[in-house]
Amino acid sequence: MAKLLLRHVYKVYAGVGKVKKNAKAEAKKRSGDFVAVKDFNMEINDGEFIVFVGPSGCGKSTTLRMIAGLEDISGGELYIDDQLVNDVDAKDRDIAMVFQSYALYPHLTAYDNIAFGLKMRKIPVAKLDKDGNQVAKIDNKKISETAKKLKKLQKENEALAKDIEALKSSDKLDREQAEADIRYYSEKKALLEKRIEEAEKSLKYYQTTPVPQFNYVHMSKEEIDEKVQWAAGVLGIEELLDSKPAEMSGGQRQRIALGRAMVRGPKVFLLDEPLSNLDAKLRTAMRAEIVKLHNQLKTTFIYVTHDQIEAMTMGTRIVVMKLGVIQQIDTPTNLFDYPDNKFVAGFIGTPQMNFFESEIKREGDKLNVTFKDGQNVSLKLSELRSIQDEYLDGKPHSVYLGVRGENIRLDESGIKATLTIKEVLGNTTQLFLRFNGEDNDFIVSVPERNDLIPGDAVGVSFTEKFVHLFDRESELSIMSREYGNK
Ligand SMILES: Nc1ncnc2c1ncn2[C@@H]1O[C@H](COP(=O)(O)OP(=O)(O)OP(=O)(O)O)[C@@H](O)[C@H]1O
Ligand SMILES: [Mg+2]
Repeated sequence: MAKLLLRHVYKVYAGVGKVKKNAKAEAKKRSGDFVAVKDFNMEINDGEFIVFVGPSGCGKSTTLRMIAGLEDISGGELYIDDQLVNDVDAKDRDIAMVFQSYALYPHLTAYDNIAFGLKMRKIPVAKLDKDGNQVAKIDNKKISETAKKLKKLQKENEALAKDIEALKSSDKLDREQAEADIRYYSEKKALLEKRIEEAEKSLKYYQTTPVPQFNYVHMSKEEIDEKVQWAAGVLGIEELLDSKPAEMSGGQRQRIALGRAMVRGPKVFLLDEPLSNLDAKLRTAMRAEIVKLHNQLKTTFIYVTHDQIEAMTMGTRIVVMKLGVIQQIDTPTNLFDYPDNKFVAGFIGTPQMNFFESEIKREGDKLNVTFKDGQNVSLKLSELRSIQDEYLDGKPHSVYLGVRGENIRLDESGIKATLTIKEVLGNTTQLFLRFNGEDNDFIVSVPERNDLIPGDAVGVSFTEKFVHLFDRESELSIMSREYGNK
């Protein structure tokens, strides 16, 4: 059980060679450096099921790996239960990680695969003197470890100081960029100094305070067996324990991998696309299993996926990422109902939300919307979510109007479009419609069947309550979560 706090966390991969050719300009901080995660801020409460979702390359795995301690944090702070853990080794963070590739040992049975980590691990048992009191002494190992860490941080700090000096005295033409770089490095340096201070404090503590001593012993066979049987029971794999991975299905292997993480009793479970090797049906089943597992264990879970349906069905809260930047952190329904920007609106929900380049203009208690082909609709302001004042000044403003297919109605008196394709799905019918002069279809899903055929002219109108508006430039939502406009 644990809570986590990520403050201004960055991951910067240095070196020109590592920048992807097609990486978007905004994801590159400075020439050569590639910012994979940018200013990640989040508080995760004990027992939450958090999902990181976003397209390939948006920094999900990198963030997860930084939390696990498998990847250095380039800037910012990571706390687990109020302890700063930037400098804590992965093995000391009490975190278990499950990957897409199960990485089971092929020559071991399921039982031994699950037990493997426990057999390797030594657990601390208090070292007692002859009177039964725990022995405490100055711990030279801790002192040398901490001193080494301190030295490493100091070296990093010196290198940063040199970089800053070099930037200050450089005759770089782009002074503005140089100043920005100096600010960036200085912030990084300030954080590093804080970590140095912590390390110095620890060192002093170990040098002056006797530390309680432990013997490290292997877990007993019985203890290990108890844990393996418990995990197998929870996961429903008791009858598989004697099988080897080659004899198991993908779903069964994934359960073994989960079992291996469970027996460690970690404070936090990190799962990186654990289901993507499974077929669609099994994926849906395992999805429910993992949610059940979370309900049972009540441990903090962080789950990475690029599948928005997985995110919506599993997360108590979802972090939507794009190009290393958090777009929105919210509950599944809030992401669906109140997307903060066009990217989130388009990413969450299938079929994708329809977007129309349009102009809005307030006329009394109506919002007049003009589409690219010149057609107009008049929406009742009182039924729309409340719009920022500056867009209601009676002047035209360029926006994207967003509306999901299920919130568009067929309406003979509505604006006209042409039917291009009709898909009868059984429970709904999807109509692909196109406005005159547009290059793209928009989708309307209607509950009823109909006799329309491609080429037919169709009238449509929007349900005001579900209309979204995004500024055309910034692509940010211009609406609040409340309804009605004065
Ligand atoms: N070791 C590395 N050196 C340089 N760049 C890297 C390194 N590891 C990852 N990156 C880059 O950082 C970005 C984020 O990678 P990450 O693996 O976190 O993406 P992701 O969101 O997990 O994507 P996917 O859904 O494909 O797994 C990518 O552009 C990737 O190319
Ligand atoms: Mg990944």
